[in-house]
Amino acid sequence: MTAMPEILKDDAEEIERLIGKYPSRRSAMLPLLWIVQRRAGWVSQGAMEEVAGILGVTVAEVYEVVSFYTMFQQKPVGRFHIALCDTLSCAICGTHEIAAYLAEKHGIEMRKVTGDGLFSMEPVECIGACANAPALLLNEDLVGDLTPAGIDAMIEECRRKAGATAAAAR
Ligand code: FES
Repeated sequence: MTAMPEILKDDAEEIERLIGKYPSRRSAMLPLLWIVQRRAGWVSQGAMEEVAGILGVTVAEVYEVVSFYTMFQQKPVGRFHIALCDTLSCAICGTHEIAAYLAEKHGIEMRKVTGDGLFSMEPVECIGACANAPALLLNEDLVGDLTPAGIDAMIEECRRKAGATAAAAR
């Protein structure tokens, strides 16, 4: 077995189990990248090198996959990352007003991480929730039918979770 690198060192068993499910090691690339993103919050150059080493592919091949899927982050993001749909149905239903509200009321600006590291936001193409436009992904969770009140509740819940984690760590 390949020596398990730093980011994935605690996932050796899970990684080998995943690889065993596929006819070739390279086929496990997406699940491995998900593990990286869950662990580190984003997929760094070092992480791509690690995944390439485990799967026996080139770093360029890993980069092709990471850069193809917008759900993989190529730079650090906030603990709560907002992927705000900017495609037609959502745009018509108020995406831009929601983005402005997030910036003005909560200080969460497009393509930026908030100073406390809690939030970040980026525009994305259709996330398949057009019937509930405008919609966003909060990390991996879909939130649709966005309104200012709903946004307030969502942000409040994120802050509550962050506070609970900080209190538990004390
Ligand atoms: Fe926004 Fe489809 S256009 S979810």
